[in-house]
Amino acid sequence: MSEQDVEMFNDSLERCKSTSGFLGRFYELFLASSEEVSEKFKHTDFRKQKRALMTSLYMMMLVTEGRAEGDAYLERIAKVHSKSQMDIKPKLYELWLDCLIQAVREFDPLFNEETERAWRNIMRPGIEFMKSRY
Ligand code: HEM
Repeated sequence: MSEQDVEMFNDSLERCKSTSGFLGRFYELFLASSEEVSEKFKHTDFRKQKRALMTSLYMMMLVTEGRAEGDAYLERIAKVHSKSQMDIKPKLYELWLDCLIQAVREFDPLFNEETERAWRNIMRPGIEFMKSRY
């Protein structure tokens, strides 16, 4: 993770957000990726869910920068996803990331290998943290 990754991730996220449908497409891909996933989201209000996820994406940036508010946020989210609450299995995080990257590929007109690397580098510490709290 470098300063350049943060900048690249942030610029790419802004491009993805500039046309509507980015997170809608992500959830479409993610739900189709596994029955275990679609089962978990059976009762979800996706308007709220997309807003919550957008906040998480910004928080991931703070986490990689080692900022305390990022850690406090992730601590709460990790608990909600853990075995004792929503029981989100660690292996599902890899599917989550691949679907997110696919949505970025479709929505960021400047997407390339470096953009993908930046997204993966920014998401990785947060994902590892969530998995470690399962
Ligand atoms: C690093 C990856 C992930 C992030 C950042 C993330 C983020 C979030 C956030 C912010 C919420 C709202 C929680 C709240 O405010 O109380 C949420 C809810 C949820 N997440 Fe995740 N999530 C991740 C991975 C996953 C995975 C892999 C699954 C697998 C199925 C999943 C399933 C859910 C479900 C079922 C909910 C509740 C939806 C509802 O309210 O009906 N999440 N997630």
